[in-house]
Amino acid sequence: MDSTRQLASIVLAAGKGTRMKSDQAKVLHEILGRPMLHYVLDALQGHQTSPNVIVVGHQAETVRQACGPEHLYAEQVEQHGTGHAVQVAMPSLDGFEGRVLILYGDMPLLTTEVLQHLASASEDSDLALLTAIAPQLRDFGRIVRRPDGTVEKIVEAKDCTPAEFALTEVNLGVYCARIEFLREFLGKLSPNNAQGELYLTDLVGLGNQAHKKISAVVTPELECSLGVNSRADLAKATGVIRARIVHRLMLSGVTVIDPNSVWVEPQVQVGPNTELWPGTILQGSTVIGENNVIGPNTRMTSAQVGCDNNISYSVLLEAKVGNSVNIGPFAYLRPGAEIGDHAKVGDFVEIKNSTIGDHTKVPHLTYVGDSTVGSCTNIGCGTITCNYDGVHKHHTVIGDHVLIGSNTSLVAPVTVGAGARTGAGSVITKDVAEATTVVGVPARRI
Ligand code: UD1
Ligand code: CA
Repeated sequence: MDSTRQLASIVLAAGKGTRMKSDQAKVLHEILGRPMLHYVLDALQGHQTSPNVIVVGHQAETVRQACGPEHLYAEQVEQHGTGHAVQVAMPSLDGFEGRVLILYGDMPLLTTEVLQHLASASEDSDLALLTAIAPQLRDFGRIVRRPDGTVEKIVEAKDCTPAEFALTEVNLGVYCARIEFLREFLGKLSPNNAQGELYLTDLVGLGNQAHKKISAVVTPELECSLGVNSRADLAKATGVIRARIVHRLMLSGVTVIDPNSVWVEPQVQVGPNTELWPGTILQGSTVIGENNVIGPNTRMTSAQVGCDNNISYSVLLEAKVGNSVNIGPFAYLRPGAEIGDHAKVGDFVEIKNSTIGDHTKVPHLTYVGDSTVGSCTNIGCGTITCNYDGVHKHHTVIGDHVLIGSNTSLVAPVTVGAGARTGAGSVITKDVAEATTVVGVPARRI
């Protein structure tokens, strides 16, 4: 195969991220539930680069675990600069022939398309770098071009003369280099600069002295250039990724009433014709079907929701909802809650580890825990399944077509048979036979 088409990658992720003021390695700070480094690896995945070498250093083991065994890792024990980091990665590419994409782990907004632009525009270059015209990026390395427009060198902001500092074209920190070029020139870097580091960016000057082909590809995609150095940058990056996800949902047929106030994590799926109202937060592996109205102010974490439901002002954690269900306002569905079709879970109702049958209503002020509730049953206002005796949790079973009176306490373990009724305020301590009515404290059959 043509070796210029073979692409490997090196991702630099060894730095501490001092400006984050954090105990956690910078690249592990999360954006919508995933470490920022994952977004960089996603952008690479579109290119099927192989091998991928991740340079780790600060909290090396944790970073390794967060990225998984499918990558190669090189450990940069002491961080002497971006050029040093690439030197450390090179032994992992012994025997590789082709080109190498080099990127920094703190650039979560990079896209597959931008990397593609660089890789395909630079097939005949020994070293190509991605740049942007961005005078606002004051800390970035400046691109110095010759009168004929070719790139002469990169000067780090800290090393700039006033004239260089005024240049508006900056180095975004994404490179594509032939492996032979790296093998020849990485060893020639010297720490002769303001930070006493080995700068990867000095490869440009070194390559030029040796008449290698160096090119700079200017991208108009300024958005992708954000390097996350502080928590303020992290919030900016989060905002951009959030907007991208919401935009993708809208293109797939989801109505988002106010795109600025809806938060959806990357793995979440939402079916067409579902409406997301302001203040909706969808997290983890949540899957939502078609034709639902979700929100306002609803949070779901790894919930499964069918079609034609109405869910407002509620929290659903690892809960499952069927079809044509009304939930909320102010319902709390905890892990293991499963709500059947055409059911209702109303205001101030908490349901945990329980199944609610089809057409059953739990309209107000109720706690249902560790229970199996049949279909077409009505649970009166203020009902409590007393599932905990202080040591163990116990199960409650309520059959089909049951009427639980307001303010009933069901002391588990207990079973209420199909078609039975309990009186208002009753305390159920013994099983209730089918089609009977019980009242009182403790409840007795009448
Ligand atoms: C770098 C570039 C600068 C560019 C900017 C874009 C150099 C010398 N400068 O500056 O031209 O405009 O990015 O964002 O490359 N890292 C290591 N090991 C090290 C040092 C850094 O792995 O020894 C990693 C960091 O974890 C980080 C990345 O490399 O993910 C970039 O390092 P950083 O210190 O943020 O570089 P900048 O000063 O931003
Ligand atoms: Ca940076």
